[in-house]
Amino acid sequence: MLALAVFVSGRGSNLRAILESSKLKELVQVKVVVGDKLFCPAFDVAKNFSIPVYSVGNKEGFISFDDLRTIFEKLDINLIVLAGFLKMIPADFIKSFSNRIINIHPALLPSFGGSGMYGMNVHRAVFESSAQVSGASVHFVDESYDTGKIIAQKCVDISDVKSPEEIAERVLPVEHQLLANVIENIALGRVFVDNFRVRVEK
Ligand code: GAR
Repeated sequence: MLALAVFVSGRGSNLRAILESSKLKELVQVKVVVGDKLFCPAFDVAKNFSIPVYSVGNKEGFISFDDLRTIFEKLDINLIVLAGFLKMIPADFIKSFSNRIINIHPALLPSFGGSGMYGMNVHRAVFESSAQVSGASVHFVDESYDTGKIIAQKCVDISDVKSPEEIAERVLPVEHQLLANVIENIALGRVFVDNFRVRVEK
């Protein structure tokens, strides 16, 4: 069983998709959910599945990334999944979980990524560029926003959309499916990091 920590900031639909995935049931256990606020709707998703939640940050009521690392070591966390987490994670924390942190991004990286590119901001930029395809990307997390090695991507035809909201609606179910697939492949030991590329064995 792969022990997972899932980081969230918003409504938690990707977290729910992981928890409700039938193929992940026998392969992974979400041991902890971490947010960058004292409350967000994703915490309710976690609570419905009786998963403990922590808020990370440096204000009162929050725990530090150092404390989080200690908790993760005790829980033997194997994989950290950023599922709509918007806060920058300190470089030393990322280093200590090298190639064990993945992120779901709602566009086809390396385009439409970087600081400030999250949620509807991404779909708005895609819409305004007149791109005819969008999609979802899952990548390993490195020290800057959205630049880590890409593990998997899936395209969505958006040639007939009328709004950024319509792009978001088409991309979200693809995110849910792609993220679960990647977690499954990692749990089954099918994901390898070579020099330049990530290789997923079929
Ligand atoms: C998702 O669309 C995710 O791809 C995006 O935030 C949303 C969170 O939704 N993440 C980013 O934009 C990261 N750059 P959710 O809380 O319903 O999973």
